[in-house]
Amino acid sequence: MTGMLGDTPQRDYAEKLRLFNAFARPELCEAIEALSVQAGSRVLDAGCGTGEALGWFHQSMQGRGTVAGMDLAAAHVRAARSGAPAQALIVQGDMLRPPFADGAFDLVWAVNALNHLPNPVAGVRILAKLLRPGGRIAVGQSSLVPDMYFAWDARLEKKVNEAVRAYYRERYGRSEREFTAVRSLVGWLQQAGLRRVSVRTRMIERTSPLSDADERYLLHAIFRGTWGERLRGYLGHDDFETLTRLCDPEDEAYALRRRDFHFLQSLTIAVATK
Ligand SMILES: C[S@@+](CC[C@H](N)C(=O)[O-])C[C@H]1O[C@@H](n2cnc3c(N)ncnc32)[C@H](O)[C@@H]1O
Repeated sequence: MTGMLGDTPQRDYAEKLRLFNAFARPELCEAIEALSVQAGSRVLDAGCGTGEALGWFHQSMQGRGTVAGMDLAAAHVRAARSGAPAQALIVQGDMLRPPFADGAFDLVWAVNALNHLPNPVAGVRILAKLLRPGGRIAVGQSSLVPDMYFAWDARLEKKVNEAVRAYYRERYGRSEREFTAVRSLVGWLQQAGLRRVSVRTRMIERTSPLSDADERYLLHAIFRGTWGERLRGYLGHDDFETLTRLCDPEDEAYALRRRDFHFLQSLTIAVATK
């Protein structure tokens, strides 16, 4: 089975997930704290990836609660098992066929995961069945903020944005209209028939000097992973060369050494009640 963004049980992008979670840790932990999950609660992280959130939920409940993770990819499940609290139950499985009883959880958390499903609303409905009446689902999506990649070059930024979209269109063979993102979260929860939908966006804002976690994420996951070699065919020659220099730590133009480097990524979490 292959999802909307190419996920399979064999796929492995654990390193990218580790980098993201180390980078966005302050904002993710703040979002988890804001949920005020009662000690003793049962929490499921659906599409848990490398499982960092399991430890954060465990901590937020002062170690008194049950945390479970579920992910399709064997490599992600292995990574999650190696880092999560010993008590966490982490299973490899498809969240569209979850191996849990109806009503088994007080909270389901799914960050950057529902957009990987062919039909996110169907996914929300299935996950909501796992909630007890009155339980909550929190779905999150992070998004690069156009206008704030290269604060000093709006034209290149626009070209890069278009190139990334063209790459995704071609690679996954879908129309751009099908790509859901942060704007869809509220609608998915409403369409799944949930109550009391609320939403809050936090800005992950970084300027120079960057921490190691910030630099590693931006260099490896964004500069090399998202904007690297794969954009070569989607940008004009000169734009690709300029981008390559900005993203190259060996080059004097390296963006992360600029004193005026200023980067924004949004993290939106929508919460609803069953
Ligand atoms: C972008 S990652 C996000 C991981 C994690 N929630 C995080 O924020 O770092 C999406 C995750 O969803 C998983 N996934 C995709 N489709 C899935 C499905 N149908 N059932 C369970 N997990 C799935 C992928 O294997 C991947 O680990």
